[in-house]
Amino acid sequence: MKTNCCELSLSFLLAFAIITNALLGAAAASDAVLNLSGEQMQVTDYYYIEWPLFRPTTGATLFRAGNETCPLDVAPVPLNGIPARISPVNSDDGVIRESTDLNIKFVFVPPCAQSAVWKVQYDEESEEYFVRVGGVEGNPGCDTITNWFKIEKLGDYYKLVFCSSVCNNHYCNVICKDVGLDSEGRFVLSEKPYQVGFRKFEFLKSKISYQWFLTLVNESWLDTSLVPWSSYHVLSKKGWKHK
Ligand SMILES: *[C@@H]1O[C@H](CO)[C@@H](O)[C@H](O)[C@H]1NC(C)=O
Ligand SMILES: *[C@@H]1O[C@H](CO)[C@@H](O)[C@H](O)[C@H]1NC(C)=O
Ligand SMILES: *[C@@H]1O[C@H](CO)[C@@H](O)[C@H](O)[C@H]1NC(C)=O
Repeated sequence: MKTNCCELSLSFLLAFAIITNALLGAAAASDAVLNLSGEQMQVTDYYYIEWPLFRPTTGATLFRAGNETCPLDVAPVPLNGIPARISPVNSDDGVIRESTDLNIKFVFVPPCAQSAVWKVQYDEESEEYFVRVGGVEGNPGCDTITNWFKIEKLGDYYKLVFCSSVCNNHYCNVICKDVGLDSEGRFVLSEKPYQVGFRKFEFLKSKISYQWFLTLVNESWLDTSLVPWSSYHVLSKKGWKHK
């Protein structure tokens, strides 16, 4: 009788603990990520991923390493960079939150790139994990683990982290590291995080201007083999002034 009683109360306690955790988990959603003017970031917007301490700006763009023909490495340059869409694995309220698995996808990439989605790729020669484009969006799970990043607080701003929780499998050995820079200034997994902030991309106010923007970029890609380049460069070549 006594044992039964204890077992009962133990299982009751366990059940209670699980329910409490679930409730707490639901209530304690992590903080929203704020853009550079302190507003909550939305999944429907596009953002430049910038170094927040430098003006005018230093944004994430694509970089061609060594004698590679296609620029696939992600690197910050002292220009606006390429706007990106940040898509959390799930977001009930459309807000981008800290410590959540998310895909990062540039608005555009050169035709030689397989996709605009960021991923982490190991390079045997340099023994570095590079941040590159060519990843796959969505489908959270062990097969897509290299495509998921997180945004974590760093000082007054943020850092990007590779530490995916999309693979709930004990056999899956997830490395957890910050996104920092290699000696050439490219994004790699590192012990030393690179501080980032997020600036909303403003051309999207109308569909027409967005389409025009894409077309400009698309055309200019063909006559500039300039790498790294940025949307700012392309637009200013066309006589655009960035507001
Ligand atoms: C350039 O490409 C050649 C041939 O693929 C390779 O042997 C060489 O190491 C490369 N150089 C650099 C700097 O990557
Ligand atoms: C932050 O977000 C607000 C609301 O979307 C927007 O008005 C503002 O321009 C954004 N600021 C920056 C720096 O991205
Ligand atoms: C970009 O260029 C390609 C090849 O010229 C063309 O097929 C495509 O429609 C263009 N896209 C945009 C958005 O202009």
